[in-house]
Amino acid sequence: MVTEVETPRGLRTAYWRVDPVLPDPEIVARAAALLRAGGLVAFPTETVYGLGANAFDQEAVRRLFAAKGRPVDNPLIVHVAAKNELADLVREVPAVAKDLVGVFWPGPLTLVLPRSRAVPPVVTAGLDKVAVRMPAHPVALALIRAAGVPVAAPSANYSGRPSPTMAAHVLEDLDGRIEAVLDGGPAPVGVESTVLDLTVTPPVILRPGGITAEQLSAVLDGIAHHPEHTPGRPQAPGMKYRHYAPRTPLWLVDAPPEAAAARLGALAAEARAAGKSVVILTRRDHRDRFPEDRVVVCGESTDPAGVAAGLYTALRECDLLGADLILAEGLPPTGLGRAVMNRLRKAATKTFVNGVQT
Ligand code: TXA
Ligand code: MG
Repeated sequence: MVTEVETPRGLRTAYWRVDPVLPDPEIVARAAALLRAGGLVAFPTETVYGLGANAFDQEAVRRLFAAKGRPVDNPLIVHVAAKNELADLVREVPAVAKDLVGVFWPGPLTLVLPRSRAVPPVVTAGLDKVAVRMPAHPVALALIRAAGVPVAAPSANYSGRPSPTMAAHVLEDLDGRIEAVLDGGPAPVGVESTVLDLTVTPPVILRPGGITAEQLSAVLDGIAHHPEHTPGRPQAPGMKYRHYAPRTPLWLVDAPPEAAAARLGALAAEARAAGKSVVILTRRDHRDRFPEDRVVVCGESTDPAGVAAGLYTALRECDLLGADLILAEGLPPTGLGRAVMNRLRKAATKTFVNGVQT
């Protein structure tokens, strides 16, 4: 059953609820018309909510950067509704891209390839490469198809904030700055797509995400991780900017579970002694390790996909508690744990690896 609710009073952005599996074609058509007219429409994907603009409309794309407060040197992903649309956006589709598209599209894998002239340079921040993905969410696919154009869409958060996994998060950041949001319920994966650069050999994971390195290895002969997110490697000064971040300072403790619990407990006690209020971000199965503290739980240690699904909501929840400090427990970088740790490291104002501040 498809329902439309009226835009709740007080909202300046149009709010349309759609069924996540069978979105009402009339509502989708209305949103698509906004996109074609140069408007900005937020919509659910399987990873996070995206903020869409017609990728062929330079003016709309400029408005998109402004609405998000996004630096114009950070390129956008172009979203398509069919596998064969990739060929219109890139200069050539190498065999490896065809293999990956065959296995992982639609889905949370973004491919970076040489840009065709059809894509305006504003979309790629002037780069000669373009990032393209075909999302798996029925609402995203219906919207792109109805718009009849490829849709440039970053995550629909204000720049630097945690990505939105619910329409309410989008409105928290962007109400009044965009034309409409389609509410299709929670985004199931919870972290963004994996961004894979195919213009180099071997391909490089620029951003770990919804498709894991383990999954990619089944299709690719070789694969490299961008040095910025190789676990444990110290970052070059200047590369460390805050991203995906709550407003509250966040310290990340990355260590084996027993050591992490001890360290988090000690840091919390120190902060309390200094008159600061603390919230600990951990997993449900570790809840009892912090009897003294306020705790937000996110997933189970044995299920990194569950942690990914709840991560951004948990970060926003930590903020709402109004503490002075968030102390977050890391998890092993296997499977989706790698994407979660990448986001937590970027959100952190301080990181402790095995007890040492990095
Ligand atoms: O799951 C996702 O990918 C979500 C949903 C909405 O599709 N989108 C998303 O977009 O996360 P955004 O803009 O928040 O992140 C895009 C990432 C950035 O790290 C950007 O630097 C990288 O992709 N990127 C985009 N175009 C690129 C290019 N031409 N070369 C290298 N990296 C690129
Ligand atoms: Mg983003």
